Amino acid sequence: MKTLTITKPDDWHVHVRGGAILKAVLPHTARQFARAIIMPNLKPPVATVAQALAYRQEILAALPVGMGFTPLMTLYLTAATTLEEIRKAAECEHIHAFKLYPAGATTNSDLGVADIKTVYPLFAALERYDMPLLVHGEVTDEQCDIFDREKAFVDTHLSAIVANFPALRVVVEHATTTEAVQFVESASANVAATITPQHLLFNRNALLAGGIRPHYYCLPIIKREQHRLALVAVATSGNPKFFLGTDSAPHLTSLKETACGCAGCFSAHAALELYAEAFERAGALDRLEGFASLYGADFYRLSRNTGTVTLAKMAWRVPLAYGDEEVSITPLQAGEQLGWKML
Ligand code: NCD
Ligand code: ZN
Repeated sequence: MKTLTITKPDDWHVHVRGGAILKAVLPHTARQFARAIIMPNLKPPVATVAQALAYRQEILAALPVGMGFTPLMTLYLTAATTLEEIRKAAECEHIHAFKLYPAGATTNSDLGVADIKTVYPLFAALERYDMPLLVHGEVTDEQCDIFDREKAFVDTHLSAIVANFPALRVVVEHATTTEAVQFVESASANVAATITPQHLLFNRNALLAGGIRPHYYCLPIIKREQHRLALVAVATSGNPKFFLGTDSAPHLTSLKETACGCAGCFSAHAALELYAEAFERAGALDRLEGFASLYGADFYRLSRNTGTVTLAKMAWRVPLAYGDEEVSITPLQAGEQLGWKML
């Protein structure tokens, strides 16, 4: 049997939620990844060090006994974030970044930043403390076509942020377009990007293949084939500015399969398998380890993991749902056959 063994990977962008959903989804992430950057878009958002430490305890308490996993916490940047909170975060070993959500851009982003220029003093503080800024890079202008919102953000906001704060470490989260890829490639080594499995594997036809398919709906929305090809090219290129961030974003099936379904794909059940599929199709399985296990740790200035994981070329069928009667979550590729399986 064909197998692939790589250094244990990390997920540099994941939503694990809280309560019953946390219990249902966390074992999937903890099985595959040594560490993960935990997104702070809860209700209410995780906006202070005290809230992040309490959330970290909730995550650790939800871990199955004996499973080693390190949650790397982030804070939600709001117009009300204080310089004092940034200082406290910088001094806390468990806080690794701040997340910028343009207000209204995505799930639970209503407390995000409405006018990005007004938080420039906060960016200056992040730069001073060498605390990474993670960016949801989409404009929220409803006049802007949803497929153009990332490009518009790169042009109007990202370029200005990077020019004004050259020493600020910035991660363009879930990059989905040629324009975002080109921006990150040509920026300094302080600018990196995460890429999701769905944006490597699917183009926007998947949303409307024979009917409307809510489980492929996430934000930023999946784009045209030309963008997918640009993402595959850069993810498999060995460029250390691009690394794994699943953006696994579980929602109850009942909240996805409805008239106004939530944005987010749950991919934690098969994250590495999905990436392996994308890298194999590109003839670049030998580049998976750098993308999944090495470059992100280097960017965050954390040590690389020492353990390994092994994937086998082995067909299996993704279940139709995970969870139980109370919490039922439809995974990405539900009911489909995958070609790789983590052992
Ligand atoms: C995420 C979520 O559900 O929290 N949804 C998504 O479509 N990716 C939020 C986000 O990362 O944009
Ligand atoms: Zn996300």
